[in-house]
Amino acid sequence: MAFLRGLFVISLLLGCARSRFVVEKSSITVIAPRDLVSKHDGSIANFGVPDYGGSMVGSVLYANKGSFGCNPFDGDKPFKSKTHLPTILVLDRGECYFALKVWNGQQAGAAAVLVADNIDEPLITMDSPEDSSNADGYIDKIGIPSALIEQSFGEALKAALKKGDDVVLKLDWSESLPHPDERVEYELWTNSNDECGIRCDEQMDFVKNFKGHAQILEKGGYTQFTPHYITWYCPRAFILSSQCKSQCINNGRYCAPDPEQDFGEGYQGKDVLFENLRQLCVHRVANESNRSWVWWDFVTDFHIRCSMKQKRYSKECAEDVMKSLDLPVDKIKKCMGNPEADEENEILKVEQERQVGRGSRGDVTILPTLVINNVQYRGKLERNAVLKAVCAGFKETTEPRICLSGDLETNECLDQNGGCWQDSKSNITACKDTFRGRVCECPSVNGVQYKGDGYTSCQDIDECKEGLACRCDGCMCKDTWGGYDCKCKGIYVRDQDTCIERNASKFGWFHYFLGSSFCCECRYCWLRFLQIQAQVLYGFRDYGYYVTVHATRQPTQQSSRPPRNRTSTTRK
Ligand SMILES: *[C@@H]1O[C@H](CO)[C@@H](O)[C@H](O)[C@H]1NC(C)=O
Ligand SMILES: *[C@@H]1O[C@H](CO)[C@@H](O)[C@H](O)[C@H]1NC(C)=O
Ligand SMILES: *[C@@H]1O[C@H](CO)[C@@H](O)[C@H](O)[C@H]1NC(C)=O
Ligand SMILES: *[C@@H]1O[C@H](CO)[C@@H](O)[C@H](O)[C@H]1NC(C)=O
Ligand SMILES: *[C@@H]1O[C@H](CO)[C@@H](O)[C@H](O)[C@H]1NC(C)=O
Repeated sequence: MAFLRGLFVISLLLGCARSRFVVEKSSITVIAPRDLVSKHDGSIANFGVPDYGGSMVGSVLYANKGSFGCNPFDGDKPFKSKTHLPTILVLDRGECYFALKVWNGQQAGAAAVLVADNIDEPLITMDSPEDSSNADGYIDKIGIPSALIEQSFGEALKAALKKGDDVVLKLDWSESLPHPDERVEYELWTNSNDECGIRCDEQMDFVKNFKGHAQILEKGGYTQFTPHYITWYCPRAFILSSQCKSQCINNGRYCAPDPEQDFGEGYQGKDVLFENLRQLCVHRVANESNRSWVWWDFVTDFHIRCSMKQKRYSKECAEDVMKSLDLPVDKIKKCMGNPEADEENEILKVEQERQVGRGSRGDVTILPTLVINNVQYRGKLERNAVLKAVCAGFKETTEPRICLSGDLETNECLDQNGGCWQDSKSNITACKDTFRGRVCECPSVNGVQYKGDGYTSCQDIDECKEGLACRCDGCMCKDTWGGYDCKCKGIYVRDQDTCIERNASKFGWFHYFLGSSFCCECRYCWLRFLQIQAQVLYGFRDYGYYVTVHATRQPTQQSSRPPRNRTSTTRK
């Protein structure tokens, strides 16, 4: 199995032996004590929330006891600031994961954590543990910024604190992202495979959550977003092997690993690659008609409707999603080219070339990777943290409003009904506008829950057929949108929820008064009206609550009198 897993080669290893990794930095300025005033770099961690575009002034504390920060600190938030300045906690590198230190610091009340290197070396990026089921609990919850600082700087800070000095620092992320102009270019390296565990879930959650922001920015022309997909290739010697045949297209040129890492079962790498290619083409084709943001809709809808778990990860399902989003299926097919041919695929070739870092950006080797203005984003992939980073990429004063205020909201349902099911005749739609975008959910109308997938179908329950209502002897049931009509036929009249034989001596006059259209399902709504009528016309008090109305399942009860006990129940 080790051989099989190691078979594919990420394309950037092809051309250059050395792989490029760029350490993204923030700036740290010592404000006090006076003899320590100076400027330093801190490398931004790959977790937590760096304050892109912003800065923080805080006073420094060093944990004399447990200075590695590998165990929770004693007491209730011992580092919580007691002054107006937040606490910047300095911890020592070593003994445990960086992320664990920062988490313990956050728990103890620190507003930021600086990890002092224990080796004299150029700064490295602190990453979250790659494969850590035990760490997953806290990594997501880290909400403070952190940075690694050089050993010598760490020593200087500690020495000043030992002397009893007040040490004040300014952490500054305002130059951590280039912000040359009024448009931000950013790209997300992702994958359509939804069965790769926590990394895949993380990517998908981000795409779903960020969609609303992304679409507002894109529609306003503030950003140019491009999705990217990593591909691998099959070494020449293995092109004819069954592994490469099932995992690769275009004669071994482009491959993706098997989702289950089991070649005999489930989906093949090839399926993932096709879908990646399709999503690239969706973006390209949508972009041609200036609707590039539809990619976000497509990807999230595909994930919901065509998941691997439900065994619906297929071309057919993808095409259904395209249709519901009004995307031209033929154009997208054409864009995908012929995967069987022994030739380059223009789209995938470009993707492979772009994986190699250039300029200020390092190689893309892990998923997901977010690149903003050609600088790799650090910090957790979370909606607001990423929005902040994108906003930090605009030239001063050219930021869109969404960057300046927390409240943003568009009604996605106004555009193509959000790709959801609708019945225009009765003006009922499955599209529900939300803060983050929209969801396609069968609606509830007048208390009736429609059933279906929300995209292509939603159906009213047929109460008559299901026998849920209007079942009394002599009832006549007719299904309607969102409800039903119930009448009593022939010699029957309605008494509460049931039809009873008309008692001529008691009700005879009624026939004349109201015609023969008696209802067995109306819910007292007309009772009051008729009572008054009866009183006015005849001076009677006790007659007249039999009348035809359109009955819905939860009609308003306007009766001034509480309903009498039912003789038979036709509803829950
Ligand atoms: C999207 O369209 C714009 C022009 O409208 C173009 O400049 C850009 O390169 C296109 N992006 C992609 C990924 O095709
Ligand atoms: C898309 O936008 C570009 C530039 O803004 C314009 O030149 C082009 O005609 C537009 N294409 C469509 C199909 O509207
Ligand atoms: C459909 O209903 C919405 C609100 O539910 C309303 O704003 C819209 O005007 C209605 N359209 C028609 C054609 O009745
Ligand atoms: C009609 O109603 C009266 C009074 O409620 C009752 O005494 C009588 O038996 C009923 N007649 C029939 C045929 O049900
Ligand atoms: C209706 O039913 C309730 C409880 O089942 C009972 O207490 C009440 O007396 C009944 N009312 C009439 C008018 O029968």
